[in-house]
Amino acid sequence: MDLDGARILVVGATGVLGRRLCERLAARTREIVVTGRSAAAAEDVRRELGLRAAHALDLVDHDAVAEVVRRAAEELGGLDAVVIATGAAAFGPAAEEDGAVVEELFEVNALGPMALVRAALPHLSDGGAVAVLTGVVAELPLAGMAAYAASKAAMASWLGSLRRELRRRRIAVVDARLPHMDTGLVDRALAGLPPRLPPGHDVDDALAALERGLERGVHEVRVG
Ligand SMILES: NC(=O)c1ccc[n+]([C@@H]2O[C@H](COP(=O)([O-])OP(=O)(O)OC[C@H]3O[C@@H](n4cnc5c(N)ncnc54)[C@H](OP(=O)(O)O)[C@@H]3O)[C@@H](O)[C@H]2O)c1
Repeated sequence: MDLDGARILVVGATGVLGRRLCERLAARTREIVVTGRSAAAAEDVRRELGLRAAHALDLVDHDAVAEVVRRAAEELGGLDAVVIATGAAAFGPAAEEDGAVVEELFEVNALGPMALVRAALPHLSDGGAVAVLTGVVAELPLAGMAAYAASKAAMASWLGSLRRELRRRRIAVVDARLPHMDTGLVDRALAGLPPRLPPGHDVDDALAALERGLERGVHEVRVG
């Protein structure tokens, strides 16, 4: 798809990767609607980058998900791409994981994004794109992050099925399996301390790959 002038919904634009991606995309199009859990934080991103609109959105509220997608499509006159940059992590041995934390991980990393993509599909133009930041953990179930990795693997699997189903509409389903980056995500974990991680990959290098992936309609974005 052509990013120049494209109508894009970026979910999680208040996060480190979401915000940086918006900065990069704003060089190509200002037809962007952003979301964050805090309306004020989302509005800051919108104003600073000169984007179309901003909305508060908590992905665990599926009714709100559908309403925000509807409003974004109305504000942009349709959608050419949806990028989901939300996510949460939690750490600790699988045997000791807290059930409520596991549920929240699956809500934020899988069920919420699935609800959002379902809501967006009727508004998405043929030839457009859906991109989700899953991560290498979707295929690399490391010790100390079982539920985090499982929630990402669930999302990645769902995207794989969706990709096949959307072939006729030529909608690219881009699974961004990005490597570890020092964004502070692990310090904001819902629970536990992270295991020893490799040095963080360069954020702009990873997001440039995502941008290229969107344009080329690749199945998976991998870097490093
Ligand atoms: N950093 C990495 O090493 C890395 C590697 C591979 C993949 N990823 C994935 O990339 C995505 C972004 O990560 P990041 O590093 O940019 O972390 P981040 O700065 O912590 O961003 C996380 C984003 O998710 C949002 N979020 C969390 N819970 C939410 C909920 N219930 N409803 C709606 N939004 C929610 C946050 O909203 P608020 O701003 O309101 O808190 C924030 O926008 C995540 O999916 C992560 O798994 C990250």
